[in-house]
Amino acid sequence: MTTRHFLSLMDLSADEIRGIISRAIELKKLGKSAPKTLSDYTMAMVFEQSSTRTRTSFEIGMSQLGGHAMFLSPGDSQIQRGEPIRDTARVLSRMVDVIVMRTTTHQRVSTMAGYASVPVINALCDRYHPCQLLADLQTFTEHRGEISGRTLAWIGDGNNVCHSWMNAARQLDFKLNIATPKGFEPDADLIEACKDNISLGNDPVTAATGAACIITDTWASMGQEDEKSVRETAFAGYCVDDDLMAHAADNAIFMHCLPAYRGYEVSESVLEGARSVVWDEAENRLHAQKALLELLLGQ
Ligand code: CP
Ligand code: NVA
Repeated sequence: MTTRHFLSLMDLSADEIRGIISRAIELKKLGKSAPKTLSDYTMAMVFEQSSTRTRTSFEIGMSQLGGHAMFLSPGDSQIQRGEPIRDTARVLSRMVDVIVMRTTTHQRVSTMAGYASVPVINALCDRYHPCQLLADLQTFTEHRGEISGRTLAWIGDGNNVCHSWMNAARQLDFKLNIATPKGFEPDADLIEACKDNISLGNDPVTAATGAACIITDTWASMGQEDEKSVRETAFAGYCVDDDLMAHAADNAIFMHCLPAYRGYEVSESVLEGARSVVWDEAENRLHAQKALLELLLGQ
């Protein structure tokens, strides 16, 4: 059987994504009484970037399904001292059943997958954050039902989370209106690949108008700390506030992968307001990733 990796949403079929959403909703209802489908399975978590949600949800998810997760921080493993990813991949594959990796570049997680003989899950890189999208698609479904055919809006940076939303739009056939400042658009190859499901512009109001959901993320992702002040200037006018939400559909929800920076990409009142579903998104990381692990491990 070929090893299934999950480096981007394009590694799954649309039916598999729908299956994960349904199973995640089911696992959420079952809570701690979910069957121990991953009993005796082990997971290595190679994290080269900070995390609260992703680390916690993978560790707890594995434990809830009866398996064991082992966290390898950069400071504790030999990677930081120069052991190549390709060697780490082969060593870990001899011991664990699945590798979860959060790293700086898509190249690094692709190398891990290229040399691993067990599934590799991308827990965020510079290009994608596909695990976030599984939780976000579950969250939209829970609050607003079927996402296919709907229109959602991404306001802000054309970053890793935006790229994953674009792949989601392509896979599940919904429309994603994207508004970024000039120079902060998503990658050109993804714009081309997803062109039937996205619209691109620089006006947040145009993008938000009539949308069933408004989504944003930090203006400076991990690794872009030095660009923070330049970005704050470039992104002025892209804060998702009550005025912008007023242009969305009447029952529109607000989504953000977190961590959020109040007063920058989102106002305090929107983040804490009745339309915000950000805490559900955070919780759903747990359930969506359990469903993903079951799929990749054939359970
Ligand atoms: N949304 C998300 O991935 O959060 P963490 O960086 O805390 O894992
Ligand atoms: N775009 C953000 C997401 C954090 C979960 C980053 O890459 O830092």
